[in-house]
Amino acid sequence: MDIPRLSGQHASVLIKQLMDIRSDLRVNQEMKDYMFDSDLTLQDFADMAAYLQSLPVVGNIEQGPPELVTRGQALYASDCSGCHGEHGEGRAELFYPMLASQHYSYLLRELDLILTGERGNSNPAMPPILSNLSADDKRAVAAYLAQLPAPGRTVTPESPR
Ligand code: HEC
Repeated sequence: MDIPRLSGQHASVLIKQLMDIRSDLRVNQEMKDYMFDSDLTLQDFADMAAYLQSLPVVGNIEQGPPELVTRGQALYASDCSGCHGEHGEGRAELFYPMLASQHYSYLLRELDLILTGERGNSNPAMPPILSNLSADDKRAVAAYLAQLPAPGRTVTPESPR
């Protein structure tokens, strides 16, 4: 699943990503074309971002290999939590994305796009950190994050919203 989960993501992050895509800072031609072709206004995008942030996060959609989770937890704590938060919650005011409960293959793809610079808009501190991770390390971090409940926001598919 290479389309990201948007529910529960910080509105500030969503708006930054939309504006980065619109100005080619984050490379995503399909979305850029859509943003220019649609008659949605900037206010509409801001309204959608606020709505998406308010949505509950339904857990366990796309998971990685469970046997890698423990290794991923240790790597995440040492290399990533300083920015993305102890529980993968991100930091809205600094535009750091929430990573908890994101889809496994989306995480893996973005890690590679950030490492090679193809994503365009990543934080410059990330590529040197990622270049020290093996392919298995990246799978492990992604597997850990995919199963991590979004702090205060996760609901199970059965629970009432
Ligand atoms: C220096 C702070 C910093 C560190 C350390 C860091 N990141 Fe990031 N990361 C960011 C920022 C800022 C963004 C968003 C950049 C942007 O605006 O596109 C980001 C984006 C991401 C994304 C894309 C999320 C999305 O929704 O598209 C992933 C995945 C990610 N980081 C994973 C990691 C992992 C895994 C580590 C540790 C190996 C890590 N990051 C370490 C700051 C950091």
